[in-house]
Amino acid sequence: MYSISNVVSLLLLLLLSSNQSHASPTPGHLETRQSTTKKYCSPTTSICYLEYSWGTSIPVFRIAVPDSASTNAPFDTLLQIVSPISLGWVGFSWGGGMTLNPLTVVWPNGNGATVSSRWSPYDLSFVIALAPAEYLTLILNEPPFPTLIPSLQPLPPQIKQSANKHSPLRPPTSGRTLPSTYSSASYRTVSASRNATHWTVETVCTGCSKWSGGGLSATGVNSFAWAVSKTPVSQPGNSGSSFSIHNNVGMFSESLSAGKVPKATFDAYVKNAR
Ligand code: HEM
Repeated sequence: MYSISNVVSLLLLLLLSSNQSHASPTPGHLETRQSTTKKYCSPTTSICYLEYSWGTSIPVFRIAVPDSASTNAPFDTLLQIVSPISLGWVGFSWGGGMTLNPLTVVWPNGNGATVSSRWSPYDLSFVIALAPAEYLTLILNEPPFPTLIPSLQPLPPQIKQSANKHSPLRPPTSGRTLPSTYSSASYRTVSASRNATHWTVETVCTGCSKWSGGGLSATGVNSFAWAVSKTPVSQPGNSGSSFSIHNNVGMFSESLSAGKVPKATFDAYVKNAR
């Protein structure tokens, strides 16, 4: 059996080593670049968004919600993604990480785009065997605010196997694999287009503001995350297509206030989305 102090030291070590591996995006030549969140009002429509950008090789993400949104009731969310043409798929996480929250994954499909609703069921950043049948699962939320949420539980057999096979401490994928399709969120496409440099998709989601274990705050700060891949998906016309792992991920935290749109304006804007 481990003593408490041994376990605590181990946790600290794991936390430190993990922070070096996959936090916010840190490709060497981009380190000094700052992400920006601001209010962006479309010059051609009546919609103002909360806009996130992080340089020219990462998509611009724009979010808008009706101003009637309240934290305890579900509300629709509008997401516009303007992606460099070189990217094969782009993912947006409504809860600030890959696992246990709704993921919006989009990719170009001819001149249009496919929107795919996904969810990653497991979050096993570290698995420590305490006894043959029990594992301490540490859920690590990455920066900006890393938090460790320990829980003692029996693991799903396939994860247990993978943890044992490769290392008792860190399964190779941390439970993160191709996200499953997620039927509790549905999407309607407002528009999709492409030009010589970018592809753009705008979609309205019903079911991205509240989920099992979490949800968006209508008034407070929310954590969001994104992922991008240069590799095209295997079946662009199929929202259930498989795709390969991202080349880059990042996170940001912001309140929705810059993206609050009068409800009537929001509803009129998404009315004809299909
Ligand atoms: C085939 C699909 C995918 C695979 C195999 C995959 C795998 C992984 C792995 C292994 C990590 C941990 C990285 C590390 O330990 O260094 C990770 C992190 C991450 N992934 Fe994915 N991923 C996939 C799709 C996605 C999608 C669609 C999103 C959508 C937003 C996403 C968002 C993230 C984010 C934000 C992180 C960093 C934060 C976290 O670990 O939760 N991933 N992914």
